Amino acid sequence: MLGVPGMTAYFGLRRVAGLQAGDRVLVSSAAGPVGATAGQLAKAWGASKVVGIAGGPAKCGWVSGPAGFDACVDYKAQGDLTGVLSASSPEGYDVFFDNVGNAMIDAVLPLMRPGGRIVISGQVGDYNTIDPPGLKGTRHFIAARLRMEGIVVFDDLKQFASAQAELSEKIGAGSLVYREERFAGLETLPPAFCGLFNGESFGRRIVVV
Ligand SMILES: NC(=O)c1ccc[n+]([C@@H]2O[C@H](COP(=O)([O-])OP(=O)(O)OC[C@H]3O[C@@H](n4cnc5c(N)ncnc54)[C@H](OP(=O)(O)O)[C@@H]3O)[C@@H](O)[C@H]2O)c1
Repeated sequence: MLGVPGMTAYFGLRRVAGLQAGDRVLVSSAAGPVGATAGQLAKAWGASKVVGIAGGPAKCGWVSGPAGFDACVDYKAQGDLTGVLSASSPEGYDVFFDNVGNAMIDAVLPLMRPGGRIVISGQVGDYNTIDPPGLKGTRHFIAARLRMEGIVVFDDLKQFASAQAELSEKIGAGSLVYREERFAGLETLPPAFCGLFNGESFGRRIVVV
């Protein structure tokens, strides 16, 4: 949590999204270490609503339970993802923190509020796709004056220490929770890694060598 995942969530929300008190925030891959941390920090920093997207009832139960999101949408159970995300926040979303990729962003674009910010954290749904989908709904950027920006976490290296201190305090106080999955031995690394791309992973995967 105090390494790359926590820092990506922290600076993605704070610097890239410029999170404001009262913002309605949507986070994809919300059961993963980056997404879960982003959602919890958004709540701690004054978001008025935080909705997660995750695959399956177990992950959604954890996101809207121990991780404290206001709601979680199981995208695998939804034919009309845009409709269900709209029902979860009828006023729309000011910030979309995306870890997944272009098809997910397209489903969310019609729901972005004026002045909305989209953080491109990662594209776990597109990394293994030879021809990943492009964005279709770019017209929403005009009408809603949207901004979309990527993050490379190491750009914020000089501020890591103060962010780590803040996250440590929250973890110690029990207000920031996370999950880890540990594997023993180098031979477990390939399947542990591949499990990131089929929904098997549930939390930060650590291979102990
Ligand atoms: N920009 C940066 O500096 C930076 C730094 C670190 C990480 N990242 C990125 O941040 C993202 C999250 O990282 P993480 O470590 O927390 O991993 P993660 O979110 O736990 O990634 C694995 C999870 O992604 C979801 N997923 C996989 N394929 C998917 C698909 N086709 N559609 C939707 N969801 C899919 C699965 O969860 P479900 O079961 O919920 O689908 C899977 O368990 C990644 O994209 C990573 O590359 C960026």
